[in-house]
Amino acid sequence: MTHIEFDPSLLETLKDKVVVLTGGATGIGRAAVHLYHENGASIVFGDVADGPGQQLANELGSQRAAFIHCDTTSYSDQLALFAKAKELYGRVDIVVANAGMSIPQDPFSADADINIEPSTRELDVNLKGAMFTARIGTAYLRQKGGGDLIMTSSIAGFKECTGLTAYTASKHGVIGIMRGLHLAVIPEDIRVNVICPWMTKTAMVKGIEKGWAELKLPANEPQDVALAILTCSTANRSQNGKTHKGAVLPLAGKILFVAGGKSYEIEDALQRLEPQWLGAENSRVLEIGQDYLMNSETSWDTTKSSNL
Ligand SMILES: NC(=O)c1ccc[n+]([C@@H]2O[C@H](COP(=O)([O-])OP(=O)(O)OC[C@H]3O[C@@H](n4cnc5c(N)ncnc54)[C@H](O)[C@@H]3O)[C@@H](O)[C@H]2O)c1
Repeated sequence: MTHIEFDPSLLETLKDKVVVLTGGATGIGRAAVHLYHENGASIVFGDVADGPGQQLANELGSQRAAFIHCDTTSYSDQLALFAKAKELYGRVDIVVANAGMSIPQDPFSADADINIEPSTRELDVNLKGAMFTARIGTAYLRQKGGGDLIMTSSIAGFKECTGLTAYTASKHGVIGIMRGLHLAVIPEDIRVNVICPWMTKTAMVKGIEKGWAELKLPANEPQDVALAILTCSTANRSQNGKTHKGAVLPLAGKILFVAGGKSYEIEDALQRLEPQWLGAENSRVLEIGQDYLMNSETSWDTTKSSNL
């Protein structure tokens, strides 16, 4: 892993940029909305929490900030969110898929009644919602010749998280969106990155906050995670090749683990160490297979496949 130290001088690259963000009414998203706005960006943010969302927009003033109701599970809500940014500011430069939620009652627990269909809300909001944002966002970034897509996954995106089965699946899926999309869009200068916060003091973790503090475990403030989102939004934007200390350019296809207020890039190490955890021979042939699959001549479409 590599510690990435945020360089505040890169904040100036956000001036006059247009940001679309989901889940901006509270917590990490709210902190990110503040930071983008303070640094000269225009922002259109959505949330299902209309009260706090509208109140934040009022606080920021109507010049460079707008809130609209957007349930990320609704494709039409998401289309309207992006259309609003285009209508108000003419384009989109940065997209942040941040909306998320968790349901504390695990439908896999021994006392759960299997005759009652479990809620799939975590999958719908955290995974389907992020996929909608990524899909529409990529199309908008493409219109203006590139930009940044940042998605909020979690520690649950790459670790076991007992008792949070659907949440863990959904957050693994967010990393899956990045790994599925990144190489396809990097030639168009669209950078896809993922943030994986560890414990962050927001409404979502109220239940564990006390025990966490007693164990003296590292915790993030929402602003720390927002800064990681801004790290990905600014790392590639300097005209003179300057970036955050520790970042490898282009910062794209990366995972930033955020713990105790610090950001660490972990995807490069995961890929680099593959021969160790997968075995050297498996890793060697996998690379050949991957090259074949990523060749522009190769298609998953069976109707086009020449060898079937
Ligand atoms: N707090 C943590 O420790 C932690 C750790 C890892 C990942 N995360 C992730 O960070 C992101 C932000 O969470 P947070 O900690 O700031 O919690 P939060 O509850 O303060 O913020 C989440 C926001 O998403 C909104 N939201 C929920 N469902 C939505 C929907 N269907 N459409 C639009 N908006 C919706 C909520 O209203 C809220 O404003 C989430 O994706 C969460 O999974 C949080």
